Amino acid sequence: MTILVTGGAGYIGSVMVDQLLDSGEPVVLLDDLSRGHRGAVDEGLPFYDGRTGDRELVSRICREHDIESCIHFAALAYVGESVAEPKRYFENNVEQGIALLDALMAAGVRRFVFSSTCATYGEPVRIPIDEEHPQQPTNPYGWSKLICEKILEAYDHAYGLKYVALRYFNASGATERRGEHHEPETHLIPNVLLAAMGKLPFVSVFGDQYPTPDGTAIRDYIHVADLCTAHSMALDHLRRGGNSASLNLGTGQGYSVMEVIEAARRVTGSRIETRIEPARPGDPSRLVAAAEKAKKVLGWQAEWSDIETILCTAWNWHQAHPDGYL
Ligand SMILES: NC(=O)c1ccc[n+]([C@@H]2O[C@H](COP(=O)([O-])OP(=O)(O)OC[C@H]3O[C@@H](n4cnc5c(N)ncnc54)[C@H](O)[C@@H]3O)[C@@H](O)[C@H]2O)c1
Repeated sequence: MTILVTGGAGYIGSVMVDQLLDSGEPVVLLDDLSRGHRGAVDEGLPFYDGRTGDRELVSRICREHDIESCIHFAALAYVGESVAEPKRYFENNVEQGIALLDALMAAGVRRFVFSSTCATYGEPVRIPIDEEHPQQPTNPYGWSKLICEKILEAYDHAYGLKYVALRYFNASGATERRGEHHEPETHLIPNVLLAAMGKLPFVSVFGDQYPTPDGTAIRDYIHVADLCTAHSMALDHLRRGGNSASLNLGTGQGYSVMEVIEAARRVTGSRIETRIEPARPGDPSRLVAAAEKAKKVLGWQAEWSDIETILCTAWNWHQAHPDGYL
């Protein structure tokens, strides 16, 4: 019985694959390499270079590998790009997501772990953000994920599909073998570290007039290894016959952009230049998770997600891979 990991050549998916293999779970990877890296996939693993929307291919994978569940990371995930090209986001994330689900269900696969996001909440009306917080995304990326959540809910009622939708806050950090390499890179921590390495002249700080103690935006950073552990626990929950659930993955602790940069200066010993830029439209001042529900339902708790550990692990990876996966 094998787990299909879509997006397994991406940042979080590649860590997930390592964790699953370490715990003795057979895996198959499906990734179109539109955003991922062949170098993030070990030689010899069953890897399919294809799209999640290719029903024929997904059906064949299910048949040939006796797939019992799917962890679905594959998606386009740039907020700004989704505003400029919403069609592409709804096609890739929603339309192809439906095709994937249809092919899985036709093959009898009924367990599904889905990468959702705190972007489904939109502008927070309260902090910390619990799972009952209104979901009103402010961009097509967030909508594409929320629509997928609603589809999963309806498929559970109608067809008995059992799922866990995991709403990540800010994925960050690295393992010894896998780290974050996006092109372009929009996430703060890799950009801070690239600046520390001299690969970027400065780090852009978007907005310094937020109603926060130092004026910069506050986010909840969660280590990629903790995220992946939660996926394994979500799968175990479904295997035990647990109900479908939507859960935040965060720590409940927020750090401002300037606090992250200060911590990165301590970890790297580098002077990291900053440049203040205008706040980006739709960027809330604070996004911090209420993390209790994942603990209650899965028994999950973040272990690696203090900011120093996140930065140290990411720094080690960046130093060992100065050009990422290239
Ligand atoms: N990184 C974060 O902070 C964060 C936060 C919240 C949610 N998420 C979600 O987690 C998931 C993984 O994020 P990531 O940072 O690892 O992204 P990533 O871009 O590194 O990985 C996504 C992978 O999916 C592949 N892919 C995209 N569309 C595909 C398709 N139609 N068919 C096959 N493969 C496809 C890409 O090539 C890439 O390898 C995404 O669904 C993202 O929306 C990420």
